[in-house]
Amino acid sequence: MVSATGFFTFALRIKPMYRTHHCGALTEKNLKNNVTLSGWVQRLRNKGFIIWVDLRDRYGITQLIFDEERTPKMVFKTAQTLGREFVIQVVGTVIERESKNSNLTTGAIEVLVQELKVLNEAKTPPFTIEDKTDGGEELRMQYRYLDIRRNPVKEKLMFRSKVAIEVRNYLSNQGFIEVETPYLIKSTPEGARDFVVPSRMNQGQFYALPQSPQTFKQLLMVGGLDKYFQIVKCFRDEDLRADRQPEFTQIDCEMAFVDQETILNQFEGLTRHLLKEIKGVEIDSFPRMSYDEAMRIYGNDKPDIRFGMTFCELNAFAQGKGFSVFDSQELVVGIAVPGASEMSRKEIDELIEWVKRPQIGAKGLVYVKCNIDGTYKSSVEKFFAPDDFDTWVHAFGASKGDLLLILSGEARTSRSQLSALRMEMAERLGLRKPNEFAPLWVTDFPLLEWDEESKRYHAMHHPFTSPKPAHLDLLKTNPGAVLANAYDLVLNGNEIGGGSIRIHNQQLQSEMFDLLGFSKEEAQAQFGFLMNAFQYGAPPHGGIAFGLDRLVAILGGEETIRDFIAFPKNNAGRDVMIDAPAPLEKKQLEELFLLSTAKKE
Ligand code: AMO
Repeated sequence: MVSATGFFTFALRIKPMYRTHHCGALTEKNLKNNVTLSGWVQRLRNKGFIIWVDLRDRYGITQLIFDEERTPKMVFKTAQTLGREFVIQVVGTVIERESKNSNLTTGAIEVLVQELKVLNEAKTPPFTIEDKTDGGEELRMQYRYLDIRRNPVKEKLMFRSKVAIEVRNYLSNQGFIEVETPYLIKSTPEGARDFVVPSRMNQGQFYALPQSPQTFKQLLMVGGLDKYFQIVKCFRDEDLRADRQPEFTQIDCEMAFVDQETILNQFEGLTRHLLKEIKGVEIDSFPRMSYDEAMRIYGNDKPDIRFGMTFCELNAFAQGKGFSVFDSQELVVGIAVPGASEMSRKEIDELIEWVKRPQIGAKGLVYVKCNIDGTYKSSVEKFFAPDDFDTWVHAFGASKGDLLLILSGEARTSRSQLSALRMEMAERLGLRKPNEFAPLWVTDFPLLEWDEESKRYHAMHHPFTSPKPAHLDLLKTNPGAVLANAYDLVLNGNEIGGGSIRIHNQQLQSEMFDLLGFSKEEAQAQFGFLMNAFQYGAPPHGGIAFGLDRLVAILGGEETIRDFIAFPKNNAGRDVMIDAPAPLEKKQLEELFLLSTAKKE
């Protein structure tokens, strides 16, 4: 018999059932069983008279043995033609392996093959489908379906599925209703650019893909649904980073008749549930910190609190001593790196170069080594006496053996530079432990941010966020000082979620658009639907959205989200597998009125 693939197959007795077991299932308990397996050829070892094949499927690997003496002749012959990644089906008997592999569940057995069917041939893959592969990132993205066959990628996708299921379990048990909102919408401002979709039926008009379902979830609250969630794709045309993709997934949630406290507790509950179910970790506390404090002591609104090295401001102790680099600056601020006084001169010079890189942009770095013997070694010992250093060490709460690293400059800039240095030192000292989890709520964000370029205020979260009631009066007199009922959930130095209590009053929402520089007409054209809805009995409401990709990556002990997404985009925002984005045919452009000739008609 000749198969469709051109191979002789000896499958007359193979039953229609593709498999009786998965490739990860068989153990010594199955000895002497007659089994049928299907899968991919991962590895072949041909000794001439014996051929071993590692057969792989999603569940594991089973070793097959084709033996000249015990396997039917024609089957043995077909086995000699197999190649890597061929898809095959075999029938055989489970026997005990001579050399057992304790690393595999199936390592004590092998299947002595009696029948073999080649279900499909395969070209030699462009990289090895092994845990450690020789394929570069771009190549693996191009052949993502092959990459997904590899354990590290497959496991991340399975892990993601598990997290998503736990999210659904928890939220539906808590009475949340999952509702789908549309993808073809009008722009929702979340601070990035929109991806737009031309409309064929409405010449010259465009839909925007949602940057988030923000306005829809608020309308669902006006609709009385009370507790909503959705695991939903969002689209943002922004520069990519390790933790950003142009299309990503949110766990989007909204609740009516709640205050901030209720929301924080509810989603602490979700996070606790996930940490427990997924990682087996019980979290005692979800500390809270104001935005202002986070910026002051970590230089960052998403601090990693798994380790110390909090900022110490030295203006009072380090200025006015004749060291002009410090004297002229708004802020002198530093960190004490535990146990790092032994760093060599060369290592410190490298660190100084590191902070001077354009990405960090510091002009220099002052260090003080607090030696174990109580002496100091510092780059500024000409300007400061050991007594001064004693005072500094006291202010830092540092100990002998620590290394003080100090920056000075404009307050905001120095804090941000020191924050980068703090993270770098933590990375070098191995303090960012992937299996330790430290969540943190950052609250009391400013409502608005002044943008020098456009000379106007931008919403720090989004324009639907409500000001703190006590700050309502400030909206007119000092908008920059108004704090919002907004909060972020930070996990291990990553913003995994953000939300707010919303404005539910038409008048206040309209004032907000005014503050943000929208004319009455613009606000009406873009958000009239929401403000209208607010006139029909909008309940007080608020919510949050988690970044599912980020959450999954961090729970998985990583910070790059790409491998936790089945088909991610590369750094240029391209899908290199399907080669998108791509030009359109002239005919399609015409239909969409995107060609000038079409426009004229
Ligand atoms: P926000 O813009 O903070 O809030 O987004 C919520 C969370 O989504 C994740 N996230 C991203 N993940 C991957 N790639 C991206 N490009 C990306 N952008 C954001 C982050 C972030 O914390 N509508 C509001 C939520 C609300 O107010 O309820 C919103 O979208 O983890």
